[in-house]
Amino acid sequence: MLGTRFAAAVLAAAGAVNAAYSIASTADIKKTAADVAWDLLQYYNGNETGMTPGILPGPPPAGDYYWWEGGAMWGTLIDYWKLTGDDTYNDEVTQAMLWQVGPNRDYKPPNYTASLGNDDQGFWGMSAMLAAENNFPNPPADQPQWLALAQAVFATQAAPEQHDDTCGGGLRWQIYLSNNGYDYKNSIANGCFFNLGARLARYTGNQSYADWAEKTWDWVRSVGFMDDQYKIYDGAHVGKNCTDTNKAQFSYNNAVYILGAAYMYNYTKGSDVWRDRLDKLVDATIETFFPNNIAYELACEKYMSCTADMLSFKGYLHRWMATATQIAPFLSDKILPVLKTSTEAAVSTCTGEANQRTCGFKWNTHAYDGSHGAGQQMNVLAAVSSLLITSAPPPVTNRTGGTSKGDPNAGMQSDHNMPERKPITTADRAGAGILTILTVGAAVGTFGWMSTGI
Ligand SMILES: *[C@@H]1O[C@H](CO)[C@@H](O)[C@H](O)[C@H]1NC(C)=O
Ligand SMILES: *[C@@H]1O[C@H](CO)[C@@H](O)[C@H](O)[C@H]1NC(C)=O
Ligand SMILES: *[C@@H]1O[C@H](CO)[C@@H](O)[C@H](O)[C@H]1NC(C)=O
Ligand SMILES: *[C@@H]1O[C@H](CO)[C@@H](O)[C@H](O)[C@H]1NC(C)=O
Ligand SMILES: *[C@@H]1O[C@H](CO)[C@@H](O)[C@H](O)[C@H]1NC(C)=O
Ligand SMILES: *[C@@H]1O[C@H](CO)[C@@H](O)[C@H](O)[C@H]1NC(C)=O
Repeated sequence: MLGTRFAAAVLAAAGAVNAAYSIASTADIKKTAADVAWDLLQYYNGNETGMTPGILPGPPPAGDYYWWEGGAMWGTLIDYWKLTGDDTYNDEVTQAMLWQVGPNRDYKPPNYTASLGNDDQGFWGMSAMLAAENNFPNPPADQPQWLALAQAVFATQAAPEQHDDTCGGGLRWQIYLSNNGYDYKNSIANGCFFNLGARLARYTGNQSYADWAEKTWDWVRSVGFMDDQYKIYDGAHVGKNCTDTNKAQFSYNNAVYILGAAYMYNYTKGSDVWRDRLDKLVDATIETFFPNNIAYELACEKYMSCTADMLSFKGYLHRWMATATQIAPFLSDKILPVLKTSTEAAVSTCTGEANQRTCGFKWNTHAYDGSHGAGQQMNVLAAVSSLLITSAPPPVTNRTGGTSKGDPNAGMQSDHNMPERKPITTADRAGAGILTILTVGAAVGTFGWMSTGI
């Protein structure tokens, strides 16, 4: 079905003008965002009879998308609602976010054990946190609450059995010993944990979350995943005590650390230490990921082909840099003009009309590049709606109007390392986690040369 739709879109693209995707006024931005959101939802069938709420078609080989990307999509739609005021999808967001909480209400549903890394769980946790920070409508009282869900994800990741001494600390990529990638520690798993810790600290005022965030940042720096130039590398293996660093750089790592650092900056009332880190990380990010001020997924646009995961990273980059300007306003002059230029390029890749619309991925080509999917739509939706950041209210805390109910004990009773799982098949194993491709054997071969290439 999609095939037909997109074949038509490509035909329509020849010589098409993108007037349909104007971002010239607030009204135009809202209209364009609404269209792109609608087109994004065409990839989702979880609300149809017999389908599973919350997930995009998958996980592979059943469909293109891993479990985490559903969580990322609901976060994108929560931001869409916050920025545009359009609540069309709110009920669907709530249904999806609650369906996937799992038996311990900590976003570790047994169906997805085989593709459940700390990063995958972290993306759902960050979307729950976002709901709390924006006073997204609270679920009925007998259902899990947004803040408690974020606390639960954090607590399962802070559990002692998730922190061993290999590489001097840090979280492993995978949660379960049985998953491929359990022997890998990486920037994104620790970045999600850092990000959640910083946000929970600001929201609740509880210093123990901030302590974990500090400790995680320090570890990521000490092990060299983030270097002195604020470049962030993918990760390394515990068998090598994390000395075999895979130097691939992905924009979602920068984004997740920028947003976390912005929350720490705000939580510490504008401390010099966090201001300096944040400022330099933003500079490095713009330099690496925004050539000519247009978002560019370096590792995959330049050096390899992009997986479905990677095709969604530009969206987090735009959303999280935009939100950072709300809680660290000193960044606005540096970030907002870049996001504006990048968004102009983003919409220039969108094409087609009515039921044949789609957006592309290579924004710096200023034309539809033939690439389409949920990630590509999410990216453009994130970029366009984030143009409204300056008129959106900043994230709340429990002292400034936040109404989500927390539970400091949430996640404490979880199974932690005990997988409640179905038998893991070879196909599942090959599909574990977000960036499997980087750790399946060939990783060093594929990326070894990049350490000098970048
Ligand atoms: C599923 O959601 C889409 C998008 O909101 C909506 O158009 C459609 O009617 C919904 N389908 C069902 C069966 O609820
Ligand atoms: C788990 O899988 C079953 C069977 O396909 C499905 O009914 C259920 O909704 C799934 N649960 C989640 C959380 O995805
Ligand atoms: C492993 O790495 C950590 C952190 O970089 C370091 O402190 C520790 O000494 C290393 N251990 C060994 C055995 O090399
Ligand atoms: C905010 O949350 C913290 C930690 O749970 C709690 O100690 C504090 O009383 C809460 N503040 C308000 C105003 O609810
Ligand atoms: C602060 O957070 C920790 C979890 O990191 C929790 O054990 C403690 O109970 C919390 N304190 C309050 C006052 O909520
Ligand atoms: C913290 O965030 C608030 C918005 O919630 C903002 O008004 C304030 O200026 C920020 N603090 C600092 C030090 O930038």
